[in-house]
Amino acid sequence: MAKKLFIETVGCQMNVLDSELVVGALRRQGYQLAMDAAEADVILFNTCSVREHAEEKIYSSLGRLRKHMEEHPEKVLGVLGCMAQKDQEIILKRAPYVDVVCGTGQLGRIAELIENARTTGRPQLALSLGRTDASRLEVERSFESYDPAREPSMRPTAFQAFVRIMFGCDKFCTYCVVPSTRGPEQSRPPEHILAEVQGLARQGAKEITLLGQTVNSYKFKNNDGRTTTLAGLLLLIHDTDGIERIKFVTNYPKDMTDELLQAVRDLPKICKYLHVPVQSGCDEVLKRMKRNYTVNYYREMLQRCREIVPGAAISSDFIVGFCGESEQAFQKSCDLISESKFKNSFIFKYSARPGTKADDLYPDDIDEETKKRRNNDLLALQNANSLLDHRAKIGQTVDVLVEGPSKAALKGKAVGPLQLTGRTMTDHIAVFDGNERLIGNSVRMVVEEATAFTLFCRVATEVTTGAREIAVPASQDTPWEEPRRTPLPLL
Ligand code: 5AD
Ligand code: SF4
Repeated sequence: MAKKLFIETVGCQMNVLDSELVVGALRRQGYQLAMDAAEADVILFNTCSVREHAEEKIYSSLGRLRKHMEEHPEKVLGVLGCMAQKDQEIILKRAPYVDVVCGTGQLGRIAELIENARTTGRPQLALSLGRTDASRLEVERSFESYDPAREPSMRPTAFQAFVRIMFGCDKFCTYCVVPSTRGPEQSRPPEHILAEVQGLARQGAKEITLLGQTVNSYKFKNNDGRTTTLAGLLLLIHDTDGIERIKFVTNYPKDMTDELLQAVRDLPKICKYLHVPVQSGCDEVLKRMKRNYTVNYYREMLQRCREIVPGAAISSDFIVGFCGESEQAFQKSCDLISESKFKNSFIFKYSARPGTKADDLYPDDIDEETKKRRNNDLLALQNANSLLDHRAKIGQTVDVLVEGPSKAALKGKAVGPLQLTGRTMTDHIAVFDGNERLIGNSVRMVVEEATAFTLFCRVATEVTTGAREIAVPASQDTPWEEPRRTPLPLL
């Protein structure tokens, strides 16, 4: 009988992609996906370390499995990804029944590690980050290029796929664990990326999201001496048959070149959407964060984005309550968010991460209550701007790639015809009534109403009838920490 696999993923899109690749590799070994940890032979957690909260979630999931694992010693329990990379000893101490600890650079070996754990009964650790180009490319070769074992059922939808274009990060912002959990920055060869995009298109992908911690720092030195930048890469993959939309996240403000912005403007399949985290509106805080730019530099960069790509939607990230953030410093973040007209912002309370520069150098001196209040205040300012941004779209025609039933429809709360959701070319969330057959298609719509989170639309070519209920949006989209369980049952 086929072995069953359960995987839960916490964290960013990079982790969602890693989980897809892990499942792809294990499916090749004959595994089937299980919907429930209890019925699986192998239980995996793909983890995130970016904030403490994400880690605690994993420890409580592991705690809940203690009894089950003790009763079923033949089962294999694995912790993968960022926490595995950073905290292998703590994991084995807190959950000694864990069998596999596999870091971000060794996921290509997952099948072998599980097998070794099963045959030896001893915990298997694989944590090398492949710090040289050659070994990192070795990992890439073994895992995902040329013949990537991708797993469509693990994607956000059947027609949306992530493609990693670079590993790691070299920026070393003082608050951030990513450079130590994902290692040094390395760009993948453009021809590998193109081959992967073409393969995904053949599997039915229409929308590709290119992933990198600082995706616009992408740079690959080719054998002939030419350097490919992100702009060049976008041009290379743009005409792939079947691909209708291309996005890229996350951008680093200092690497937002005119060349890139011109590519976004000129290539029709590139979404006019730029996620460029600023983190703070105060120069002293940015300096302590070691972000390498000033608030004015960021402002000018925003202006350049808007001049070169008219109508671009821009979103940002902010951290509140970073070490030493005074009320005045926080106020500067409020000023920046008010003036910047971001489509949306992700706002995070600072979480001190052991091993980072900030944790070594500065006391985490802003209390939780203050962090919470600042988070809410900043969110309220952003929401007011998001509402203006969304309302300005009322009456406009937009192209929506239809993703599936809306949240309200999934919860059975929508009345009337099927309520569907999708995104515009500027990454705005659209909700509308329509027929299921629209899922996976790009559909022209007219924006009729708007909240701070959602555009309510009408399919331009159809007359909508019947009652409609306005879905209650979540207070904030939080793509970084929501756990995702194995999404689809087995074929
Ligand atoms: N505490 C809070 N937020 C953080 N981020 C990164 N590290 C931390 C931390 N230690 C946020 C940043 C980044 C996003 C992915 O997570 O805003 O852009
Ligand atoms: Fe972390 Fe800064 Fe790198 Fe982003 S750019 S992953 S915040 S170190």
